[in-house]
Amino acid sequence: MTVEHRFGGRWTDRKLDILSQYLTFFTTALRAQNFQLLYIDGFAGSGNRLIERIIAQEEPLFGIENRSERVHAPGSARIALETNPPFNRIALIERHAKRFEELKKLCSHYPTVQVDLLQGDANEAIVELCRTIPWRGPNAPGRGIRAVLFLDPYGMNLAFSTLEAIAATKAIDVWYLFPISGVCRQASRDGGKLAPYKRAAITRILGTDEWENEFYNYPVTDDLFGHLTAKHRSADIKTIEGYIKKRLSLVFPIVRDPLTLKTDNGSPLYSLFFALSNSDPKAIGLALKGADHILRTGISSQVRPRK
Ligand SMILES: C[S@@+](CC[C@H](N)C(=O)[O-])C[C@H]1O[C@@H](n2cnc3c(N)ncnc32)[C@H](O)[C@@H]1O
Repeated sequence: MTVEHRFGGRWTDRKLDILSQYLTFFTTALRAQNFQLLYIDGFAGSGNRLIERIIAQEEPLFGIENRSERVHAPGSARIALETNPPFNRIALIERHAKRFEELKKLCSHYPTVQVDLLQGDANEAIVELCRTIPWRGPNAPGRGIRAVLFLDPYGMNLAFSTLEAIAATKAIDVWYLFPISGVCRQASRDGGKLAPYKRAAITRILGTDEWENEFYNYPVTDDLFGHLTAKHRSADIKTIEGYIKKRLSLVFPIVRDPLTLKTDNGSPLYSLFFALSNSDPKAIGLALKGADHILRTGISSQVRPRK
């Protein structure tokens, strides 16, 4: 008898499962509506990911023997390349040279998919795509272009100003893995350790320096002798997630409560946000039908393409 476990990062399976379901929902729901459908991956990686499988094998006389093996599983880019019905166009952004080369190699196996491979910084590339793509109007194909953007950075790599450019298109549905653990690490509990570079990193990702007033208790007179308590972070994960949602809601018409993705031992790592830049009620209704269902149940609703 063999028992198989996947080692490390059930949260990774979860985020990719949600993405995969939404991409299928999106292309199925919009394919008959004469939009050009675009997928953008801001932090594409190599297209695949390595997972370690632990295989427990019961041997007669010797009991259980464990062995592990490393195997490739699809990452976000490959999931998009294999989405059915397919996207009309896919833009993949990756900064790391070796991963970019692997991505190129992977795309060569999908000759029928129109792929734009962009090596460089995600912030610059996304802002440029948002600015130059003819989302609607006389230069747009058909009724215009509709996109899904996946933002899956390791750390605090995405500037808030990039989100403002995305929101301005009014044509992009966004899945953003906000690095909540990175922000909590930089916003140290002990306010005395809040170094200028930590402040700058949080301000860049949140687009304001007001977070400090929200997260920290200021020194108060402590006792009859006027001693001051040290400034400390009072905001917990839920408060910080609430504040991030408030910030995102300033630029996107719709932002859903995040799904907190945790390590296998329960530590919060990322907060997965779904945000819509499109303010058209019909577009919102359709997108939320899919996203809410997927977030709630992990199973996409059965959508029929609209005529
Ligand atoms: C979490 S991985 C992406 C995994 C991928 N979504 C998947 O499912 O396989 C993050 C990727 O972002 C890349 N990266 C980090 N900072 C970047 C930046 N500023 N611009 C573009 N890519 C960046 C890293 O090299 C890494 O490959």
